[in-house]
Amino acid sequence: MRVKNFTVSIAVFLQLLIIDACGSGQNNSWDSQKYARHGQSQMMDAQAVISQLPDDKLSRILDVGCGTGTSTQLLLDRYPQAEVTGIDPSQSMINYANHRFSYNRRVQLLKFSAEDYIAEKPYDMVFSSFALHWIPKESMPLALKNIGRNLRNGGILCCIFSSSKVGLPFQRALDKTLSDRCFLKLFSKFKDPQVFYTVDEFRCILEKEGFFINEIGYFFNKKTYLSIESLRKWVGQWLSYSRYLVSVSHYEYKKFMDVLMKNYMTESKQVSGSPVTWGEYVLIAKAKKTVDK
Ligand SMILES: C[S@@+](CC[C@H](N)C(=O)[O-])C[C@H]1O[C@@H](n2cnc3c(N)ncnc32)[C@H](O)[C@@H]1O
Repeated sequence: MRVKNFTVSIAVFLQLLIIDACGSGQNNSWDSQKYARHGQSQMMDAQAVISQLPDDKLSRILDVGCGTGTSTQLLLDRYPQAEVTGIDPSQSMINYANHRFSYNRRVQLLKFSAEDYIAEKPYDMVFSSFALHWIPKESMPLALKNIGRNLRNGGILCCIFSSSKVGLPFQRALDKTLSDRCFLKLFSKFKDPQVFYTVDEFRCILEKEGFFINEIGYFFNKKTYLSIESLRKWVGQWLSYSRYLVSVSHYEYKKFMDVLMKNYMTESKQVSGSPVTWGEYVLIAKAKKTVDK
């Protein structure tokens, strides 16, 4: 896939499992079971990017924010001779991935964040899908510094992550829902942990940490969900406002998601009952490590 600013669009038809979405998440912590059930969309995006990575013979790959191991599995398939280390700070995610790869000698899983992992031996490639926007802004330079330290000279960094949805129907629906009198009070203490970068901001940070950028840009990620319920389940596992609500009360969570989905249908001018479309920009950066920092 070629990445150009705001140009490449992919249409993916998803067949999501219809399973109860309400898990037992805590504030901003990950529920690996729920993610495994409803995170297929992230998997398809990672697959599209991984299939376009160079054919080089890589022997060591680091998957930063490996989650349940979906991206790790895609890397193992793409590079059958490589060993893959997955790191993730979430115990729930690491437990899930450990179970998944318990018999696979090519995989090593470690409970670390990007900011605190230093490997004994450098990697040929560092890959990260849908994880870097969860790193606090002040920690990002350290995370990238460590990623650089963990890469051999000339090694590849490939990352894909969410970007701001400002101007898109979903953000309008979210803003409308958050300003609803019913929810204003509930969110008074909430702080969204996600950090979104523009292409220029992220280019700047990468260059400062000694990376040479091969490609950087957004692609417009357009998908069709079979129903509003499938879209709701997918949104429910990453939207931090909804994860915050799960720990407040099951009733408030349900009410919030009902209103949010209703507002989304209105803002995106869609009629309920038919397949539901979704669109967002995703930031992709491919870079090479050039200097030791
Ligand atoms: C949306 S999941 C993506 C999982 C997987 N890469 C995939 O594509 O399915 C985001 C993951 O990022 C992890 N994460 C959050 N903060 C992180 C950090 N500072 N360093 C590394 N991973 C982090 C979370 O624990 C979570 O498992």
